[in-house]
Amino acid sequence: MSDNELFPVPAEWASRALVDAGKYAAMYAASVNDPEAFWAEHGKRIDWFTPFTKVKNCSFEPGSVSIKWFEDGITNVAYNCVDRHLEKRGDQVAIIWEGDDPSESRKITYRELASEVNKFANVLRNRDVQKGDRVTIYLPMIPEAAYAMLACARLGAVHSIVFAGFSPDSLAGRISDCGSKIVITADEGLRGGRKVPLKANVDAAIARLDGGLDHVVVVRRTGAPVDMEPGRDVWYHEAAEMVTDECPVEHVNAEDPLFILYTSGSTGKPKGVLHTTAGYLVYASMTHQYVFDYHEGDIYWCTADVGWVTGHSYIVYGPLANGATTLMFEGVPNYPSNSRFWEVIDKHKVNIFYTAPTAIRALMQAGEEPVKKTSRASLRLLGSVGEPINPEAWTWYHRVVGESRCPIVDTWWQTETGGILITPLPGAIDLKPGSATKPFFGIVPQLVDAEGKVIEGAAEGNLVIAESWPGQMRTVYGDHERFEQTYFSTYPGKYFTGDGCRRDADGYYWITGRVDDVINVSGHRMGTAEVESALVAHEKVSEAAVVGFPHDIKGQGIYAYVTLMAGVTPTEELRKELVAWVRREIGPIASPDLIQFAPGLPKTRSGKIMRRILRKIAEDQFENLGDTSTLADPGVVEDLVSNRQNKR
Ligand code: WTA
Repeated sequence: MSDNELFPVPAEWASRALVDAGKYAAMYAASVNDPEAFWAEHGKRIDWFTPFTKVKNCSFEPGSVSIKWFEDGITNVAYNCVDRHLEKRGDQVAIIWEGDDPSESRKITYRELASEVNKFANVLRNRDVQKGDRVTIYLPMIPEAAYAMLACARLGAVHSIVFAGFSPDSLAGRISDCGSKIVITADEGLRGGRKVPLKANVDAAIARLDGGLDHVVVVRRTGAPVDMEPGRDVWYHEAAEMVTDECPVEHVNAEDPLFILYTSGSTGKPKGVLHTTAGYLVYASMTHQYVFDYHEGDIYWCTADVGWVTGHSYIVYGPLANGATTLMFEGVPNYPSNSRFWEVIDKHKVNIFYTAPTAIRALMQAGEEPVKKTSRASLRLLGSVGEPINPEAWTWYHRVVGESRCPIVDTWWQTETGGILITPLPGAIDLKPGSATKPFFGIVPQLVDAEGKVIEGAAEGNLVIAESWPGQMRTVYGDHERFEQTYFSTYPGKYFTGDGCRRDADGYYWITGRVDDVINVSGHRMGTAEVESALVAHEKVSEAAVVGFPHDIKGQGIYAYVTLMAGVTPTEELRKELVAWVRREIGPIASPDLIQFAPGLPKTRSGKIMRRILRKIAEDQFENLGDTSTLADPGVVEDLVSNRQNKR
């Protein structure tokens, strides 16, 4: 794709948008030249019980990494997302909930939201949840997920949402890592007409925990019969009947934790990314307003799941802090048909639509007809997140879904960043298909080479961020050393993103994907090490190495090289068994797409697996294997190449 194919800002956008090109340039310059003044001003976008007097106090120096924003201010996230709107917009819809089944939907006003959040908070308070306590949430996409998040925030408790597609094992690991004593779940989840046994998964997770749990709060979703342990388990609807809908709001410090969200890294177990209160909310709400050019009365829909960071920042916290109407969707893009997204847009007159490239690519394969039969006249802006969007998918999204009328904001960010860092602002920046374009206010991206030298101008390198921003994660829960090691040691003094990136002659950023051992499957982050350790936990597996490979719909697929125990015969059946095993150990999103049985893996003489070679083989780049002379047994490679799974 040429760097010069440009989609200029449409004229009506330049005049109507919050920010045009001139204003972007001025605000960006102000934000990086005098961050103190810039954020002192924008910190006022949220309400404070005690205003801050300090703005920024951050160090990226290894050994003393510390990030604090607005550190002496006192506020509360739930107050900002709910209470402060009641006077002006109590009767405005806060959440439109669209069920998996198209006949089910609900609208929740800000006043109703206040009442639901307070009730939920009281139910938690009655179960001894206090400021600072960790609360695990394992819920499907139902309004109670938002109520539960905001209820925790109201009490100053710290939520840890575990995506409802994760297995009991993954859930248990996350419960014990953060030491939560309470889990909020549902009887079952419902997605694409299929039921997910959430309460049964929680029970299975508890069985793996030393010390168990004090409380399980169960929301009734499908009405399926589930086991309830007296004294520990309670139905939410019954508990909610015993409480009022008034609950005092906890005054919390700007730097008190708001949530933990586990995410995969290149090594070891998933990390508990910790976000705090005020900086996070300022940044999530500000990016939501400017990136989506949110205007009063707009209907906004982000299709993510609240189990991922996109759901946290851009379904719940950002939009609600802005008093927006946010749509929450329980289902999937292709149920009951491939028109579902577009039908929901027509049904609720959605103006702003934010989804992932993997969904676009899958729908693109179904052709234009399922799109064309809907109106989509309400749409004004489209967004993309989670992985690089290939120019073909971008162009289809723009031309077919948006009828060449709606700009696309390709938003690059991470669980760690709390909010969007590199993105077009739709009224200000001309678009290039496949480019996340320019930094948001206050963001200082740099490209560095392998030695850490900053490269200027048009170049490709590793993406680092040189200065802190308010939405940045503060630590890895319980392991600050790992935080420093993971993000600040590779290029000392800078935040390392783990992504590769190219900057073109116009200063546009093009994210090229992860440069570490993280793969991005359908926009979900997966550590190769996690899948490997699941595989080797199987009794017939002696060794495993996992890499990503290009996949038409998922972006990347999971390719596993597996060495079996001596005497075990590789069969098709065993291959299936191993796929099912990984699904059970981690969850369906981790299922290997291809498993290649390999009698040996390429290793250096010191025993280190040469992943570079395995990656090339998985990508079918056989000519490009590089230097194999340092291998302990170069013959292994030939064997792997000739047995490459599903040769294309
Ligand atoms: C990738 C999701 C290219 C990237 C918000 C990043 C993207 C990882 C984009 C974070 C984008 C996200 N273009 N790549 N617009 N957005 N990524 O933590 O590799 O689930 O490091 O956060 O997704 O994934 P995470």
